[in-house]
Order: sequence, then C-alpha cells, then structure tokens
Amino acid sequence: MEGFELENLPRHIAVIMDGNGRWAESRRLGRIRGHRRGVEAAREVVRVCSELGIGALTLYTFSKENWSRPKKEVDMLMGFLESHLKSEASMMMEKGIRFRAVGNIGELPESVIRVVRDLEAETAANTGMLLQLALSYSAREEITEACKAIAQKVADGELNVEDISEETVEAALYTSGVPDPDLLIRTSGEIRLSNFLLWQVAYTEFYVTDVLWPDFNRKHLLEAIRCYQGRERRFGLTTEQVAG
Ligand code: IPE
Ligand code: IPE
Ligand code: MG
Repeated sequence: MEGFELENLPRHIAVIMDGNGRWAESRRLGRIRGHRRGVEAAREVVRVCSELGIGALTLYTFSKENWSRPKKEVDMLMGFLESHLKSEASMMMEKGIRFRAVGNIGELPESVIRVVRDLEAETAANTGMLLQLALSYSAREEITEACKAIAQKVADGELNVEDISEETVEAALYTSGVPDPDLLIRTSGEIRLSNFLLWQVAYTEFYVTDVLWPDFNRKHLLEAIRCYQGRERRFGLTTEQVAG
C-alpha cells in the first residue's frame, strides 16, 4: 500500500468495533446476523495485526452498559463469545498470540469465564501479539476499582499516600503492564469513547471511519495505520521541538 511504512507501526492498537446492528438492519436482517459478521471482521483484524507485528491489540467487545440490551441479544453475544474463543484457541497458539480479558470478568456467565481463564492460561507463555478483549468493560469502573485497591494498600499500611504516582494507578488498572494505545479506531462514524480506556488514551491518536464493523477489513485497517503514520504526535511540545 502506498505510503505505508512498516517501521513506524503503532505498538498498540485499540478498536471500538461498532455498527453491527446497523449493518444488519440496513439489510433487513436481525441484529444478531450483524454480530456474526462482526466476529469474522474481528478474526481478520487479529490475523492482520499479528502478521504485521503489532505488539498489542485491544478490542472493545462488550461494555458494562451493553448488559442492558435485550436479553436475547445479550445471550446470543455470550454464546458467540464462548464458541468463538474455543474455536480460535488453536489459531492463537499457532500465531503465538497471548490472550487476556480486561473488564469485570466475574459478571460473565460461568461457562464464558471458564473459557476465558483457560485461554489465558493456555496462551500465557506465548511471546507474539497480546490480544486483549474488553469484556463487561467500563473504564470508570476500572478506575474506581484501581482507587479501591490503592486505598486498601494505604489502609493496610503497605503504601504511603505521598508515594502514590501515575505508575501506581497504571499498575492497578486491568491493562497494567501494557503500553498505552498509540492508535484508537472506531467504526460506524460515532465520535465518542463510550466508556473505553479513559485513562489509557491520554495521548492516543483517534481514527474514526464511517465503515460499519462487519465491513471493516484489512484494507481499512491499513488505511487507519497509514493515517496514523501521517500524524505529528507532539505530546504537549512544539512542532519545532518534535522535529528537532
Ligand atoms: C457493536 O455493534 C457490538 C456491540 C456493542 C456488542 P452494535 O451492536 O453496537 O451496532 P449498532 O451500533 O447498534 O449499529
Ligand atoms: C461501544 O459500542 C461498545 C462496544 C463496541 C463493545 P456501543 O454501541 O455500546 O456504544 P454507544 O451506545 O453507541 O455509545
Ligand atoms: Mg453500537
């Protein structure tokens, strides 16, 4: 692809995979058909990112707020998740992908928790791309839980208030140890975060496309990366400083 540099790849890409419902509705299909196609799109993006050598990929798969959707849709999504994770285990081993779930995992159905924990254990020693699925995820809840864990350490006398730093907070998040996303992609044209990675995206580059998630493919992903590569990341400095 023209202008695509393999040297300047984002280390970590996060994706808000949105638009499954609208994709299906525009075809007069049930929403669930959109989710099924969405799984295919996710599989392709995982494959391409892993082949490109991206260090980490975080996919917003199910938010805490999504629990309030109709029960039938939630049940179907949980079913897809369980069967998809089972069927992708061999691909992950083959590609050396390390899997990690981020979110309030205890809220998921028992059978899904089991598959998630098994897959984390099975892939723990892999050294390729880290694949994080955000499941039952809420960034505000993540930050609240981090606050509680830190407060508990202080209460237990293990930590002094003066020693609390940004690193302390980072280490208490679900995503601890993973560099912040360099690039955040959101499909379906919505320009919002929907409670995703609020702490981690402080200096992330945002890319929004009107493409609905089930239609998102390799070409769209490479276009997002190419656009990212054209950005000047200043981190609060001046252009002159960054260039120098
Ligand atoms: C994203 O697609 C998948 C989930 C949130 C689980 P949506 O289901 O939100 O699709 P739209 O936004 O209704 O089109
Ligand atoms: C965000 O999409 C959550 C996921 C993609 C899993 P939503 O469809 O839930 O977000 P809103 O409701 O449009 O903000
Ligand atoms: Mg949506």
